[in-house]
This record gives sequence, C-alpha cells and structure tokens, in this order.
Amino acid sequence: MAIEQPATRPANPRFSSGPCAKPPIHDLAKLSDAPLGRSHRAAVGKAKLLAAIQETRDILGVPADYKIGIVPASDTGAFEMAMWSLLGERPAQMVAWESFGAGWVTDVVKQLKIDATTHTADYGKIVDMGALNYDSDVCFTWNGTTSGVRMPNGDAIPADRKGLTLCDATSAAFAMDLPWDKLDVTTFSWQKVLGGEAAHGMLILSPRAVERLENYTPAWPLPKIFRLTKGGKLIEGIFKGETINTPSMLAVEDYLFALDWARSVGGLKGLIARADANTAAITTFVENNDWIDFLATDPATRSNTSVCLKFTDDRITDGPAFAKAIAKRLADENAALDVGAYRDAPAGLRIWCGATVETADIEAMLPWLAYAFDQEING
Ligand SMILES: Cc1ncc(COP(=O)(O)O)c(C=O)c1O
Repeated sequence: MAIEQPATRPANPRFSSGPCAKPPIHDLAKLSDAPLGRSHRAAVGKAKLLAAIQETRDILGVPADYKIGIVPASDTGAFEMAMWSLLGERPAQMVAWESFGAGWVTDVVKQLKIDATTHTADYGKIVDMGALNYDSDVCFTWNGTTSGVRMPNGDAIPADRKGLTLCDATSAAFAMDLPWDKLDVTTFSWQKVLGGEAAHGMLILSPRAVERLENYTPAWPLPKIFRLTKGGKLIEGIFKGETINTPSMLAVEDYLFALDWARSVGGLKGLIARADANTAAITTFVENNDWIDFLATDPATRSNTSVCLKFTDDRITDGPAFAKAIAKRLADENAALDVGAYRDAPAGLRIWCGATVETADIEAMLPWLAYAFDQEING
C-alpha cells in the first residue's frame, strides 16, 4: 500500500553537516553587541575573543593547563597548523576511516614527506586504535563526518605515550565526551555542533604539545599564518585572544551567542543529550524499516552527529542515483535540506543530528524519508 504524503513538515528542515543548523533561538538581531567596525586589538575586541576562549574552556571542560587559541582557516587551518608545526620530530602514525582523515594522510605523506605509517579502514569501519604505536605521533579524526563512524572512547590511547596525539574533533566537540588527558592537540571549527559561522578554527594544546613546540623546530619553513612560537617560546598572546590575523567580530559574536545557548541547554551534558536524542529517533526508524541501515557497522562507533545511512533494498539497481533522487525529493519538499552523502562517501544519506537540531524536526522529517523512499522505489 502506498505511503501517504505526511501532513506536516519539520519546522526547520536544515540537516546539513556543515555549516550546521543555527541554535533554535538564533536571530541575527541578537548579534547587535558585535563590535563591528572596531579593531579586534581594541579592549572591546580582545575581551570578546578572550570570552570566546574562556567559555569554550568552561563548557568543554578543558583542563586549566591546556592552551586554547582562535586561529585562521577554520578546522583545516587549525589542524594544518598543528601538523606543520609539530610533526617530524619522530615518526607519525596517520589514521583514517573516511575522507577528512584521508586528507590529513595526504598532507603528511605527500607534502611534509615525513616518516609515516598509514592505517586506514573502509567507510563504515574504524581502525583498531589499540594496535597503534604511541611512541610515534598519532593523527586521527574523532568523528568521521563523512562515514558517521566515531571513536567510542579514548581507552585505546595510553596515558604514558611518548608521541603526541593530534585529533581533528570538528564534528565531535560539543557533542561527545573528549578525554583531554589522551589528546595533545584538538581542533574544531565553529560551524559544526554549535552552528556557528565558518572561518575560524580552535586549537587546543596540552602541556606536552607546548613543550614540543618550544623544543623542536621543523626542517621546513612555516608561513606567518602557521607560526605558534617566536624565539623558541610559545606566542602566549594567541591563547588570550590576540589572534594571528584579523578575525570576523561578527563571527565571534555569533560564537558567543552559540556558547550562551549551549549553557542554557545544560552545557556539554545537555548538548550530548540533544545529539543522542536525535540519533535515537533515527535508530528507531532504522530498526522499523528494513530498507535502510547505518553505514557504521559497529553500533559502538555510530556517530551522534553526522549520521550516515545506506539503502539496502534489493530492488535498487543504481545506488548513487537512487540516494541522490531521495535527497532531491526531500529537498524539493522542504522536508530535509543537504542530506545527500558526502561526495567521496558511499551512496546514501547523511543527517546531521548535532545539538542545534531539534528532535521534533528529526521526527517530523523521518516520515518524509519513508514517503520519498516509497515514491522512488515504486516510481
Ligand atoms: C572531520 C572534519 N575535518 C575537517 C573539516 C573541515 O572543516 P573546515 O571546513 O571547518 O576547515 C570537516 C568539515 O566538515 C570535518 O568534518
């Protein structure tokens, strides 16, 4: 029997995996305190930047002896800056289970050309993090945004490692518990779980990472935009809001607004609970429909932000075309925007479930997914 067109649509059909939905109460008018047209080096600008750092520390529970800096070029800028500044002192283990991790592998192997071993897993799977050599530096992505596979926890990372761990946590921060004692470098951008604006990256350094920066100089030149030390000392100002170059104070205000909202929903715990509730709604849907499944094979590694799904119906002959058609139907109906799988990932859907997404919107969207599937498979 054909499925009826659902009667209601999600109030907000934005399920993109980046930039992600704004916090539900977002309104441009609420950013009117942004010091626009003022210098970011003026007291007002510096205070805003410092507040962004302090609020980040507070909500994420970053230890007091870790440094937090706002850096250029979003997560990519932060992670590149870390790799180019820190790697090369010892061998590296490069870990990838989807395209963003693979991008960092390319950087290290083909650009930096340092002594590196690569560990990869197919989309849907994860690398055995316990089998790595942590006397080397280890670079990995906490949550694979394009496969929906995440680290279940940091237990595999030894506390007494000799190398550094460099973690791209852009689609994990503010949605997952990050074990700070296991992470020497952590990066993310504002445009993911908190629904901030793109452009700026966050770089979090453990004391051991700072020690490396102050005692090791890479063999290659570093552009100004990557430089974290001067005369063998950390440039402390970067970690107090004296950014390397000019930030957007509008983006900063927007981030401060998002942090305020994060606090209002219960801080990190509340944010995680919201992402978990969104993912649970999808899990129920998957359990009730035998034509769809998670791309992540092990439930313990299933992401609660970038939830990746695959179609499993035998009648589908052209998987990519089918998945694209479903995403188009959902967008045309204004039921779900930007939910096609990432271009390099297996065919399917990717539904952002981070904290800024309302569970009621996921629940209102899922009947449209069932409807779109029915129309497409029978059409
Ligand atoms: C895991 C991961 N790393 C890096 C990036 C790149 O982030 P940005 O565009 O903020 O530099 C993304 C963006 O989706 C991501 O998901």
